[in-house]
Amino acid sequence: MATKTISVHGKRVAVDIIGEGRPLLLVHGFPMDARMWSKQLEPLGAAAKVISPDLPGFGESELPNSVMTPANYADFLSDLLESLEINEAVTVCGLSMGGYIALEFWKRHPSLVNSLIFCHTKATSDTPEAIENRKKTADNARRKGAEDLARDMPVKLTSPDTQQNNIEVMEQLSSMIADQPGPSIAAASLGMAQRANFVSFLPDIAVPALIIAGDKDTLIPMTEMEMMAKVIPHAKFVVIKNSGHLSPMEKPNEFNQDVLAFLAR
Ligand code: MLT
Repeated sequence: MATKTISVHGKRVAVDIIGEGRPLLLVHGFPMDARMWSKQLEPLGAAAKVISPDLPGFGESELPNSVMTPANYADFLSDLLESLEINEAVTVCGLSMGGYIALEFWKRHPSLVNSLIFCHTKATSDTPEAIENRKKTADNARRKGAEDLARDMPVKLTSPDTQQNNIEVMEQLSSMIADQPGPSIAAASLGMAQRANFVSFLPDIAVPALIIAGDKDTLIPMTEMEMMAKVIPHAKFVVIKNSGHLSPMEKPNEFNQDVLAFLAR
């Protein structure tokens, strides 16, 4: 694996790149970084050129603005691909916030999309109550950094099976969240609150799509994803058993098999 540090519009960006062949762009969730995909790099790198950046503000990448919407991250990804001289359409695989970004990427840069993988995400926008919570999360992160999220989120993000039987994942998760800077958490949180509702655009997705849900995901229930799979014309829907919101970390073997089968279709 090569972790590269490059500059995109004068800002530092860290990106893991492994493998050869058709490009597969992995887009992590909130409030995490590219380490979320560490169990995907080698297995998926055997079948594709995997490109896994830290989104601006997260991990080792610099934050450019005080609010980052999914559309802003999507435009960043297109600039990143250009900087990396990736000249063919990519498979975009986004988890949760990464899925909101994948939807924007498809809408704003359709010629760059070969296929889409949506993991534990949804096409709906935030309710007024969710928007209020985003503002509170942003205020709290600006004042206290990632402390409260690192304490509270790991249990919300994972299944009871993971919590009881996979202490390593629980520890990785809380230390990864604790590493994220407060201003970056605030920027992403306020940005997600502004995101568009994509439900009416889903029937226009003409490329193949894989939709991965977890049967124990309490943050984004399976029903949201089932709705996406019904409306997107060429979608395959899979449910990973005993997974919460983070199947790439919680059930990496099952997740990787589903993605490899999709890539090989
Ligand atoms: C994520 O995992 O990216 C977040 O749960 C997304 C969200 O807060 O809507």
